[in-house]
Amino acid sequence: MSSNQEPQKTTGLHVGVAAPGVKKVNPILVIDHVKKSFGGLTAVDVEHLEIPSGAITALIGPNGAGKTTLFNLLTGFDTPDTGAWSFEGKELAGVPSFKVAKMGQVRTFQLTKALSLLTVLENMKLGAKNQTGEKLLNSLFPFLWRKQDSELETKAMELLKKFKLDAKKDDFAASLSGGQRKLLEMARALMTDPVLVMLDEPMAGVNPALTQSLLEHVLNLKKEGMTVLFVEHDMHMVRHIADWVVVMAEGKVVAEGAPDTVMKEQAVIDAYLGAHQDTDLGVVTGRINVVSEEGK
Ligand SMILES: Nc1ncnc2c1ncn2[C@@H]1O[C@H](COP(=O)(O)OP(=O)(O)OP(=O)(O)O)[C@@H](O)[C@H]1O
Ligand SMILES: [Mg+2]
Repeated sequence: MSSNQEPQKTTGLHVGVAAPGVKKVNPILVIDHVKKSFGGLTAVDVEHLEIPSGAITALIGPNGAGKTTLFNLLTGFDTPDTGAWSFEGKELAGVPSFKVAKMGQVRTFQLTKALSLLTVLENMKLGAKNQTGEKLLNSLFPFLWRKQDSELETKAMELLKKFKLDAKKDDFAASLSGGQRKLLEMARALMTDPVLVMLDEPMAGVNPALTQSLLEHVLNLKKEGMTVLFVEHDMHMVRHIADWVVVMAEGKVVAEGAPDTVMKEQAVIDAYLGAHQDTDLGVVTGRINVVSEEGK
């Protein structure tokens, strides 16, 4: 088992007082007035939000706060009613999801999207960015396609080894456990050499035996120079690995800050208690009881 050493936190990410919409020293994503309603319900209403580059940011908030919807909008899987946002200074509004991924911003899904009837290795290859095999040029010159295919395979196998899935390369994705599928999805996202990796509840439904390994994979993304934005309900994990925390409630960003301080903000406690008036915050937020910790 790996050590429980505290990961190295990245600090000095923001400029001025930590509050919703606070400027970042080096933002990778800048979001302005992004709004999305479903019927009468406003799912997302983000006035201004900057995600810091080179760090791990956790996006938290009670069920239905709009976290997944915001992910969908930012990655081109859904379109907002209004608003604009940029990734590394490039405007992304209206850019479809496959192009967003090619630009270096990838995401995984709350419910994994591994294709069950493909093998683990085939799933990996599908994640790659230059599917040149499908292009006309390559159908005329199949040797180009074969070269690319073997390069893809080498890369896929390296990643599968890293995620300890190499022995399963020929198994159907359907045969994997929930946790292994989460690992496969993360590995597949890395086939495109992303700059920003967005993970929607990477730990949800994962067997405790695999959580430590998933956690380390997330930390490794940062070590390798990638920026991470992840949605998570387990406050233990958020505190352990996040450099910065953004809190959403009812579509809005209600707080932002370093993990140790932001959980104690009244707006955050209210957001969770407001959504779960009949439970205490410790239950809602996972393994750690924020209220009693504060009192210690
Ligand atoms: N396609 C849709 N059609 C209608 N309503 C939707 C749709 N997608 C999301 N919603 C609603 O928008 C709100 C925000 O949902 P969203 O899935 O973004 O929340 P979340 O913060 O990801 O929640 P969770 O923590 O439970 O995953 C919820 O009230 C949800 O019911
Ligand atoms: Mg969600």
